[in-house]
This record gives sequence, structure tokens and C-alpha cells, in this order.
Amino acid sequence: GITRHYEFNIKMQNVTRLCHTKSIVTVNGQFPGPRVVAREGDRLQIKVTNHVSNNITIHWHGIRQLRSGWADGPAYVTQCPIQTGQSYLYNFTVVGQRGTLWWHAHISWLRATLYGPLIILPKKGVPYPFAKPYKEVPIILGEWFNADTEAIITQALQTGGGPNVSDAYTINGLPGPLYNCSAKDTFKLRVKPGKTYLLRMINAALNDELFFSIANHTLTVVDADAIYVKPFETDTILITPGQTSNILLKTKPNYPTATFLMTARPYVTGQGTFDNSTVAGILEYESPVLHSVFSTKKLPLYKPILPPLNDTSFATNFSKKLRSLASTQYPANVPHRVDKHFFFTVGLGTTPCDQNKTCQGPNGTKFAASVSNISYVQPTTALLQAHYTGQSGGVYDPDFPISPFDWFNYTGNPPNNTVVGNGTKLMVLNFNTSVELVMQDTSILGAESHPLHLHGFNFFVVGQGFGNYDPVKDPKKFNLVDPVERNTVGVPSGGWVAIRFLADNPGVWFMHCHLEVHTSWGLKMAWLVLDGKLPNQKLLPPPSDLPKC
Ligand code: C2O
Repeated sequence: GITRHYEFNIKMQNVTRLCHTKSIVTVNGQFPGPRVVAREGDRLQIKVTNHVSNNITIHWHGIRQLRSGWADGPAYVTQCPIQTGQSYLYNFTVVGQRGTLWWHAHISWLRATLYGPLIILPKKGVPYPFAKPYKEVPIILGEWFNADTEAIITQALQTGGGPNVSDAYTINGLPGPLYNCSAKDTFKLRVKPGKTYLLRMINAALNDELFFSIANHTLTVVDADAIYVKPFETDTILITPGQTSNILLKTKPNYPTATFLMTARPYVTGQGTFDNSTVAGILEYESPVLHSVFSTKKLPLYKPILPPLNDTSFATNFSKKLRSLASTQYPANVPHRVDKHFFFTVGLGTTPCDQNKTCQGPNGTKFAASVSNISYVQPTTALLQAHYTGQSGGVYDPDFPISPFDWFNYTGNPPNNTVVGNGTKLMVLNFNTSVELVMQDTSILGAESHPLHLHGFNFFVVGQGFGNYDPVKDPKKFNLVDPVERNTVGVPSGGWVAIRFLADNPGVWFMHCHLEVHTSWGLKMAWLVLDGKLPNQKLLPPPSDLPKC
């Protein structure tokens, strides 16, 4: 591979959407941010320089960061933030992955405007396992807030209320024609007939899983989270925040006398308020000379029909269709032996209210979220540095529980006491431990689907189900042949999911719900994978420009 260099200058930029102009944090003044492109095996060197007053970090979502944990990016986990006026070089190699990933800010809610595609092409001369597409197009779904997103979450954390919901969803930063004052800000995909387009889908929204569909066109899913899957056709895809997927779009064989909307709107399982609006873009067939007399306005416009908002059966069926290719060239290396089995609950809860504040949770409490009843407390220094320098005392405790301390009927009547504990606890793993982790949604304050993202690894989704996980019966049904391999999985509302991964990457690896409001409320934890014995099984030393807290 070669080394590819990028410069990310973090600066403020005025952007107008929905007739509101606001100053947002951007990379190089672009919104959405610039594309980063590499081939499998290449090294990426991205120099990030902070010219704004906020602290910044950037995360390369889905990149394995083999031994290069210092470049992963979550604030106070693998690094201290890049402060105003400072630079940091993110330096890492892309190993064993090809497809679509993305990058985003990983501090507070700055990822609302700081995100972009990270495209990994196969090695030179290696074809896709499907016919070469005519063109490739990134499609990033996002969320737009008229208000300042940082102020929204700061306020929500103080009072424990849900933050204000977004004002629009966006496709490549554009809300589209179904919103007021937005028709001119519409993403248009101009296509030729009889061709195949590769859509590189990314869900960069803060708080919503999204359905996406294109009217009168069938989509073929060929990849999830930069791993090929067995191709399957669908009218609609479901994509959670954090997930990516490559989709083939076959255009009509002849020029249709119509234009087509592509739309996205949320899949919602919890209560609470949410943005119930629909973003639209336009799929338009490029007019040949003969057609140029028709303006698109005169052509009829077809709209897709999306599943109902809470269509969990669609969600379940869709996720069951996702299977690894499991071919000779792209095998599914599912760990068959399990060294350590873990059972974590994920869900909401409450925490005592700050003094002299009016809090919006039940019985005068604040909302919290937890993994195994532990709401994560962010330390004031980076976990990875504390571990590496042997100064972990007072920063974290290496005693995350293998299963929750208190058992209750997770999907039945919730317990009366909804108060969660808190702490900065790490689960410590020896190098090359083969892990099975079951994540169980709890119905405390309402069952809800949680897109859980693991840094530093891909995992295999070996099983999922509804109700309480049964440790005797359920493992018998696990798929160890062709389970989907990915980095973000939806823990079903009122159900569980089982994943397996091999802890072959030394470092500290964050795991959290990719719904930003749940992350802020504490639905996160971290794994500490120790060095192996051999020199090539050890975390590399920290770079000299690693920011200090
Ligand atoms: Cu895409 Cu920890 O995040």
C-alpha cells in the first residue's frame, strides 16, 4: 500500500438550512466533510488542526486500528482532545477491510456537523464480488438542528430531559423538498438508464435509526459495515446510526417519463419525542437531447412507501437477511471456541438530580442510561494513556462485571427502583481471548432498540431474539456458519443480541450506543485488551504529538 495524506482544518462556517443560518464546526469549511479515500492496505495520515474554540477529536468509525489505538479518536478514551491551536496526526493502516466507513467527531455532540465518508477501495486489481458499478455515490443521512447542538445537549444533561429533537433529516447535508424553505437544498442523483450505481450509504444521524427507499426501484444490499454480504434485494433498507452499507441501484432500462423521490424517516421503538419528519432527495434520469424539451417539473413524481414508524418485524426480517459471504475468498472467521462469556444489559434508568435544578426525569430524577446498571462516568484524562503509563489509579477500575449484579425480569415489569450506579469500569481481556457477549435490552422506562457500536473490532452477530435471553436454549440456534460481520448492531427493543469477536487488538476500546443522547446519558463502557507476548502483538508506543489533557 501507499501513504495518503489529508489535512483537516477544523473551522467555523456559516451554513443556511430551512432558512436558518448558523455557524457550525466543519472540516475545511465543508458540510458534510471531505471524502477520505484509501485502498485496502494503504496508510492514512490525516493531520487535524483545531482553529475553533471547542476541543476536538476525530474517530475513524469502523477502522480496526490494529495496534494503533492512539489514532482511534474517542475523547478521554484513547486520547485527550485536540485543543484550540493544536494539531494531531491520525496515522493508521487500513487492514482487511474494503467498503464504506465514515469519520466523525467523537466529543460531545460535535459529530452533528463534523462527519464525512471514508471509502476503502479493494487492493489494486482485486474486483468487487459483484459486477463493476458504472458509478459510485456516497449517500450520507444526517440530522439538522436549527439550534446549537452543543447547547442542546449541555442543557439536556443538566436537567435530565430529552434534548430538543432535530428540525430535519438530511441527505448529503440537504433536507430536501418536503420541508419548508428547503426545496433548493435538495440532493439530486442524476443517472443514466440501464446502469448500475453503487450507493455508499452512511447513517450519520445523531439519534435515529432510519428507513431508506427509492420509489419504483429495487435495491440490492451487497455489504454492511465494509464487509461483503450475500446480496439480497429489498425495496427499503434499515440503517442505524453508525452503520454503513453498500447498495446497488439498477436504473430502468429506458428513460422513464417520471422522476423518483428517495426518502428516509425514522424507525422508532421508544416513547419520548423524536423528529417524525421525512427527508427526500430526487433520482432524476439525465435527459438525452430528445428529452431536453421536458423539464423535470412536468414529469410525474413518484414517492416511495416506507414501513410504519415502529415496524419491528421489518427490522427483524431485514437484519436476518444480512449474511456474510462466507466464501473461500471472503471467509467468515467466526470464533468457534469461546473463552469468555459475558452478559450485559443495556437500557435506561435514572440518577439523582443535581442540587437546585429542576429535573425532568420521573420523581424528580434525571434520565440516565447504563450498561449492566453502570452509567459510565467520563474521566478527565484518557484511559489508554492512563493504562499505558501505569497510572490507572483514580482514572478507572478494571472490574466491569461479567453479568449484572441484580437480576430482574428484564423484559417484564420493570423494578420499582430505576436508579443506576455509575463509574468508569473497564473489562480487562487477555490478548486473543475469544469473546461471546450477549446484550439484553431492558424495559426500564420503556423497551427501546439500541445500536451498539464496538471500537477496534468487527464482531459476528451469531444470534438475536425477543424476550429474555435463555442461556440454555438460545445458543443452540446460533449461526456460526455465515453470520453478518459488523461494528454496529441494533439490540432489538425488548430482546437481545449475541455477538462473538476475537480480542486480537491490544488497547482500550470504547463500546456504546450510537444514539448520541443515550451515549451522553452513560450507555457506554470500555474494554482493555492487554498486549500479547510477541512483539507484533503489542500496542505501538504513543506518537509524540498525542494531545495532553
Ligand atoms: Cu461512530 Cu464511538 O463511534
